[in-house]
Amino acid sequence: MSATLTVTDRTAMSVDEIYEELVAKLGEFTPEFELRVQAELAWEVNQLKVQRNAVILGHNYMEPALFHSVPDFVGDSLDLSRKAAATDKDVIVFCGVKFMAETAKILNPSRTVLLPSLKAGCSLAASITAADVRALKARLPGVPVVTYVNTYADVKAESDICCTSSNAAAVVESLGTDTVIFLPDEYLAKNVARDTGKHIIFPTRLAAGNIALHDTDIDYQMVGWNGRCEVHEQFTVADVAMVRAQFPDVVVLAHPECSPEVVDAADFSGSTNAMTRYVENTPASRYLLLTECAMGENIAAANPHKEMVRLCMVRCPHMNQITLEMTRDALKYMQYEIDVPVEIMDRARRAVERMIAIG
Ligand code: 13P
Ligand code: SF4
Repeated sequence: MSATLTVTDRTAMSVDEIYEELVAKLGEFTPEFELRVQAELAWEVNQLKVQRNAVILGHNYMEPALFHSVPDFVGDSLDLSRKAAATDKDVIVFCGVKFMAETAKILNPSRTVLLPSLKAGCSLAASITAADVRALKARLPGVPVVTYVNTYADVKAESDICCTSSNAAAVVESLGTDTVIFLPDEYLAKNVARDTGKHIIFPTRLAAGNIALHDTDIDYQMVGWNGRCEVHEQFTVADVAMVRAQFPDVVVLAHPECSPEVVDAADFSGSTNAMTRYVENTPASRYLLLTECAMGENIAAANPHKEMVRLCMVRCPHMNQITLEMTRDALKYMQYEIDVPVEIMDRARRAVERMIAIG
């Protein structure tokens, strides 16, 4: 089960108090003058948060100074969706990417949902359109569609049920059907297929919006899509071998958006919350995190006696759009409001709520 990580209420803290906390947590890898600037920004964000009656949801990939100073809740996609659904605040500021802010709006449509930067997209969400899903459904009538939450609302609206990395296998198994369409992450789909003992095939997107299915002469139970996370697709088995050669005691954790070969080479695979908990509950002193680099720093700050080996050559350019300055401006100017057409929102909500009911 996932659980949103507990966060201290910092709205009553002074700039100096926020600064001292940031130095204690991040001083080892961030210059103190930079933390001073961040503390001043965080103080402003926290004042505006109270004035606007807002809640701030921070994904585990947020940059360390933001992660440790302004969110009311931090966590993975699933947990933050639950928090968005449950809040009674007037405004939800989503420090994450656009599909997450859309999910918050879908689940709690009477709130104002703000995303601090409209550049915060996602390569997986961009890999598939609602027309693609309709074409697949036309080709495979009656086969239920499971859609990863890393998709836009119009794609969710075409789906029977959503899933996140922490419940994907459970969602697929809950359907109890011979075949499922699982979209759009190729690697997550392959990892789920392996975990659930299913055979997966991949369609080809043709011109004029048609879909071609190959390999249908073999027995298959899942139909995937060739979307990839531009961060996780870059990790290789050679990366894991290189780090293991240098640090034989390292425990390797891979997000399920990594390839099945990389997941196989790792000691553990799970959602961002599951990886955080794994580090907290495992006695080993050194870990390699195959995921967005900022998360390694966030875990290191919370677990000072554990060393996080990070491969920071790949960063999520979308998550990295969100800064303390932009979060301050989001609350100051009430920007950028995320809205979804009611008809799409209502259909998408059914798919998201069906997932939340499963857990
Ligand atoms: P989680 O659901 O594990 O938080 O992952 C979200 C994401 O975007 C991973 O790249
Ligand atoms: Fe999308 Fe990958 Fe960035 Fe997550 S890390 S938001 S899946 S591009």
